[in-house]
Amino acid sequence: MEFYIDPDIRKSTTLPALFYKSRAIFDQLSEKILLTSWQFVGDLNLLPELSWAYPFMLLEDSLDEPLMLVRDKEDNIYCLSNVCTHRGMFLVDKPGKYRMFSCKYHGRCFNLNGQFRSMPEFREAENFPSEMDNLPSLELGNLGDFLFTSISPNIEFKKVFEPLLERMNWFPFEDLIYNEEGSHVYNIKTHWALYCDNYLEGFHVPFVHPSLNQALDYKEYDTEIFDFCNLQLGIASEGSPVFELPKDSPDYGKGVFAYYWWVFPNMMFNFYTWGVSVNIVEPIDLNNTRVVFKTYLFNDERGNQFSKKDIHDTELEDEEVVERVHIGLQSRLYKHGRFSPSKEKGVHHFHRLLAEALKN
Ligand code: FES
Ligand SMILES: [Fe+2]
Repeated sequence: MEFYIDPDIRKSTTLPALFYKSRAIFDQLSEKILLTSWQFVGDLNLLPELSWAYPFMLLEDSLDEPLMLVRDKEDNIYCLSNVCTHRGMFLVDKPGKYRMFSCKYHGRCFNLNGQFRSMPEFREAENFPSEMDNLPSLELGNLGDFLFTSISPNIEFKKVFEPLLERMNWFPFEDLIYNEEGSHVYNIKTHWALYCDNYLEGFHVPFVHPSLNQALDYKEYDTEIFDFCNLQLGIASEGSPVFELPKDSPDYGKGVFAYYWWVFPNMMFNFYTWGVSVNIVEPIDLNNTRVVFKTYLFNDERGNQFSKKDIHDTELEDEEVVERVHIGLQSRLYKHGRFSPSKEKGVHHFHRLLAEALKN
């Protein structure tokens, strides 16, 4: 199925309701977009010591790809397949220190960099071991200590993240620490793309978020579009906290309350004066989405400005509208919408990227 989103936002219609209702399109989004895009794995603290492995599922319930992060004894970091190359057994069950990975099924062993090491009863096997017997190793990208990987990347990491890396080059990523109490997982009855649509416009802020609306100067709120990411710059209203920016920042002199970065297709990095809120949108099925909020606070008094309640209340307000929209889109009478040229540039950008990716 192909969709056309006019590059001219003044002429364009939104993706049709069918896009959010079709199981076949949902599956295509997984194959064509999730599989080929960069995905957030977590931060370097998942590997607290040398010779450490951390097993995880990449996008549980959609891609469900068993992987592991590994820090070897020379401090090299890898992202490896967590599936034995013999007959497909899971290799590592829990995080911890490892000297090597040995398969519990028939004893195949791998070095921490994924290289085949040994295997009983294979002396007569020809052409063995070969490249195919090593654990597949995926590329890694990083933003400070945040790690990303992709199963089959069709765009370079740098090309996706460059605008964010450049604009935020002054940001003290090294001062962030993960805050478990401030983090939360939300289960929402909606299509994952609808959750992103809602994030991508500040148009609804005055209608849906009364207290956030007080912190922001809505007139100054703007969206900037880059190739595979976009930025909503939240300007503070009188009395709200603002970033102290260096003179060479393009935002110097503006009272920036928050940088809301969205990265294709399902990641949000919200920079505040107290730290960063990472939001990962995980598709479960057509009608269910898991949104993982990870909170990283500055490890000094700046972190004390964080209020879980503010973030949580805003999220519940968003959740309520996206769940209502999800029901609304099931209507036989709703076909598609139009974009506000001044306020919905981010949603238009997302719809263009989705339509383009489905074509390929
Ligand atoms: S599946 Fe791992 S050794 Fe057989
Ligand atoms: Fe919102």
